[in-house]
Amino acid sequence: MSKKAYNSLINRRLVLKIIGFGSFFITLGIAVIGSIRFLYPRVLFEQPPTFKIGSPAEFKIEAEPDKNGILRVYEAWKKEHSVWIVRGKSRIYALHSKCTHLGCTPNWFADQGVFKCPCHGSRFYSNGVNFAGPAPRPLDRFRIYVNGEGIITIDKSMVYTYKDFDKTGAYLEV
Ligand code: FES
Repeated sequence: MSKKAYNSLINRRLVLKIIGFGSFFITLGIAVIGSIRFLYPRVLFEQPPTFKIGSPAEFKIEAEPDKNGILRVYEAWKKEHSVWIVRGKSRIYALHSKCTHLGCTPNWFADQGVFKCPCHGSRFYSNGVNFAGPAPRPLDRFRIYVNGEGIITIDKSMVYTYKDFDKTGAYLEV
């Protein structure tokens, strides 16, 4: 065997060795990473479905109702819980801030007394009832109740659509 042929054979062996060891270590690395990830379960941290908004006394306000009988829309829980608290003349309820068309988040315009959805132009009165745009129904409501400690609590695991707005739990008498 000539020296040139011998060198070529050695080089080829070296390349095959590198590829072989490289593949082995890459496979081993993937297996080790996979095993380590397996040790840490993927836990999804979700907010609990219930949250407290205060005592009934905090929602006893003096204000002129608008043409839909609404005294005030509270936005304090929109960002964290996707909920508007609506204070009517004799009822208080929790509106889901999710458009009933395709689920965008409407905005509340206190000066006009309407919720407007930025996606396709749906409009809702201050009581959540739709009056313009493609939204097929009023904004949904969550269960609202006074807990054992006398605090108004919202339970997002219970949703009421407009046919059930008069059912116990869909509103609180104030
Ligand atoms: S998602 Fe609100 S109008 Fe379409």
